[in-house]
Amino acid sequence: NYTLEDIMTQAYPVMPVLAVERVEDAIPLAQALKAGGLNVLEVTLRTANAMAVIEAMKTVAGVIVGAGTVTRVEQLHELVRIGADFAISPGATPALLAEGKRVELPFLPAIATVSEMMQGLELGYEHFKFFPAEAAGGTAALKSFAGPFPKVRFCPTGGISVKNFKDYLALDNVTCVGGSWLVPSDALAEQDWDRIEALARQACFLV
Ligand code: 3PG
Repeated sequence: NYTLEDIMTQAYPVMPVLAVERVEDAIPLAQALKAGGLNVLEVTLRTANAMAVIEAMKTVAGVIVGAGTVTRVEQLHELVRIGADFAISPGATPALLAEGKRVELPFLPAIATVSEMMQGLELGYEHFKFFPAEAAGGTAALKSFAGPFPKVRFCPTGGISVKNFKDYLALDNVTCVGGSWLVPSDALAEQDWDRIEALARQACFLV
């Protein structure tokens, strides 16, 4: 079992944000990303088979597999049942924040403003996704958050790419970044595992 701290530091430099339609792609995709150096994977619950994809990826040794796009409390319970390693939401509702502290699963809520962050802090959260990172102020916003809240740690996602991810990782309050750029939808559609492995390796190499 991992803590949020483990997950966000082991995800260094980057957590691929995945939308996987076919369960048959789960294992080769996880193997390709791991071979390229990325071992913390966020499988968004945007596809019909996402839960089955997480279960399949969990059979690959050495990868930490969680869910993204968690928007309902019932999804947290289902993720505990299937043995997912963590859950990430694009936002933070009172219900998710409360249940996220009760379930046996590290839960990373997202914030875009200081007031949202303060609601999470009141409930004991010190790690947040910053979403949508580029649209909500990017690295300038994160630098501003560090003044009043130096202990809070972020995983920014949303609009991050090979061009700007290092700017985020250079900040003291950023422990990892997430993004979909590592697994382009055409590469996944074509089952181009070599290209996906090469993109993962490039991200690791650039750091
Ligand atoms: C997420 O769910 O974290 C975002 O959709 C990822 O954003 P990106 O597609 O801009 O990388």
